[in-house]
Amino acid sequence: MKFVHVPASHPYDVCIGSGILPQLGTQLAALHKSCTVAVISDDTVFPLYGEAVCDSLRCAGFRVVHHVIPSGESAKNLTTYGEVLTFLAENRLTRTDLLLALGGGVVGDLTGFVAATFLRGIDYVQVPTTLLAAVDSSVGGKTAVDLSVGKNLVGAFHQPILVWCDTDTLATLPAKTFRDGCAEVIKYGLLGDADLFARLAAQPIAENPDAVIERCVEMKRDIVAEDEFDTAARQLLNLGHTFGHAIESVSDYTIPHGHCVAMGMAIISRAAAAMGICPAADAAAVETLLQQYGLPTQSPYGAEALLTAAASDKKMKGSTLTLAVPEGIGHTVLRKVNAGDLRSWLSAGGVQ
Ligand code: NAD
Ligand code: GLY
Repeated sequence: MKFVHVPASHPYDVCIGSGILPQLGTQLAALHKSCTVAVISDDTVFPLYGEAVCDSLRCAGFRVVHHVIPSGESAKNLTTYGEVLTFLAENRLTRTDLLLALGGGVVGDLTGFVAATFLRGIDYVQVPTTLLAAVDSSVGGKTAVDLSVGKNLVGAFHQPILVWCDTDTLATLPAKTFRDGCAEVIKYGLLGDADLFARLAAQPIAENPDAVIERCVEMKRDIVAEDEFDTAARQLLNLGHTFGHAIESVSDYTIPHGHCVAMGMAIISRAAAAMGICPAADAAAVETLLQQYGLPTQSPYGAEALLTAAASDKKMKGSTLTLAVPEGIGHTVLRKVNAGDLRSWLSAGGVQ
């Protein structure tokens, strides 16, 4: 098993390994005294892994209750949030009890936000079951739900007390959902690790997920340790997200997050090359690697639609926003740009 310690304001370990779900209860019992654990999952993941998780917790002496939400982004909303809170109150959870998120980024973000706010905050555990959640959303303490007018508009920073990532769970992921996570992995290579980028081209992620997840979590650990509350370096993790979120929003969330991030990375890389910021060969290598992983690199929408969506992005500060711009493979910088200049970035990135 691999361990990555995250030295955030509330420090914790991320444990990564194959077949480790049955050991979760014992590990948690070493961290937290016996209590009620409310397992929150979705209706795809709970039938696959709910029993293994609940059994492991019960064997370690915890009382277990569970609540299952519908799968997919459309459940990450205030209605589901209210239902989970009500479930916890009805089951008389107290501040010394625990929540456990079993699932992908949707379950993780929602459960984390419930944990941040129920009884003014209780502890929670992340058990990521998608590649995207393993490398990104389960680590770092960003929690949120969506509003009908935009994604992740209500949330809080609330770190988990443990992240337990059994990489065997990735075996049941639909291929498209696995590819979503590959986009986030490629993002880590592009933003800060040229060796990782080269390894991704040489060996498919599916052949060695533990090592890839460990490296991505180490990178996220370093960024979160430097800027937990997202005022500086953490914005590097938004590489590909400004235009990616705009595509996601215009698609009415029918194109999954990772696919949108892939298109956003391709656009910003092409733009950086056209503006002489990034070598053209590096921008081409980004497109090639995304395509190697079956990810899209061209926006299905034009500039007008994307600019309208980008205008309501929560990353906008007044009339400016910070763009993560690659200067080459493994090196990305933050640039403050005027909203009015986004059209020229899109145009340089091949979106008219
Ligand atoms: P998701 O949670 O919707 O999972 C995708 C699909 O895979 C769902 O249908 C789910 O039921 C299914 N699934 C999950 N694990 C499975 C498994 N092991 N086997 C079979 N099916 C499985 O989506 P996601 O891609 O994991 O996460 C996307 C969400 O994460 C978005 O809401 C995004 O905003 C958020 N996010 C948050 C952060 C953060 O820092 N908090 C970072 C990146 C993304
Ligand atoms: N995924 C973006 C962040 O954690 O900051």
